[in-house]
Amino acid sequence: MNAPLDVTNVVLRTERLVLRAWREDDVDDLYAYAHVDGVGQPAGWVPHRDRDESRQVLRGFMDEKDVFALEYNGRVVGSLKAGPVKESDWPELAGKTCKEFGYALAKDCWGRGLMTEAATAAVDWLFEEIYCDALTACYYPDNARSARVLEKQGFRYVRTARHHTRFDYDADVALCLLTRAEWSARRKKN
Ligand SMILES: CC(C)(COP(=O)(O)OP(=O)(O)OC[C@H]1O[C@@H](n2cnc3c(N)ncnc32)[C@H](O)[C@@H]1OP(=O)(O)O)[C@@H](O)C(=O)NCCC(=O)NCCS
Repeated sequence: MNAPLDVTNVVLRTERLVLRAWREDDVDDLYAYAHVDGVGQPAGWVPHRDRDESRQVLRGFMDEKDVFALEYNGRVVGSLKAGPVKESDWPELAGKTCKEFGYALAKDCWGRGLMTEAATAAVDWLFEEIYCDALTACYYPDNARSARVLEKQGFRYVRTARHHTRFDYDADVALCLLTRAEWSARRKKN
């Protein structure tokens, strides 16, 4: 289900963004958006306390090799991960090549269509170049912005699961799916 992915030498260009691998010197940009209250929590992580924490997270991105940095006007303003699918959430996808989408954007950049632009490029790349059979994503039910980003890619809600959060309580999450057939049908229509 979880084929390896390596974005180290991948660069995707959109009208306003460059999606590329994270570099060690991105740490100040990462800290600048990741310490801001309200950015991490809807994505399930706690705002970064200091640059050292951002440095550790950034090294994790570089080691995992499945997270793009989103560069906008010469500054990294967000991340987009195509990570492993939680197999217990998606038993019906066993044996398929799938990736789970996750993303966050600097608060001062919200509402300009930037994540939609990044997601479109990443979705197309994952189906065209990585030959994924399906992409999954999940969001907390009160995260209407994220739901809308996914909806605009053609993801559909499948069911609600219960996840244990990093805030140490259990929460509902909406599980969403975009299959290759659905992606392909949308491309033909647009
Ligand atoms: C979710 C997030 C990435 C969206 O990024 P963005 O660049 O602002 O998204 P876009 O501008 O491409 O699209 C947002 C859509 O949500 C809509 N929206 C904005 N605020 C909304 C609200 N309060 N309720 C409903 N929809 C809303 C926008 O109108 C837009 O839809 P439209 O193009 O049809 O008008 C960003 O808000 C973020 O980083 N949030 C914190 C982290 C997070 O939630 N990550 C996802 C975890 S699942």
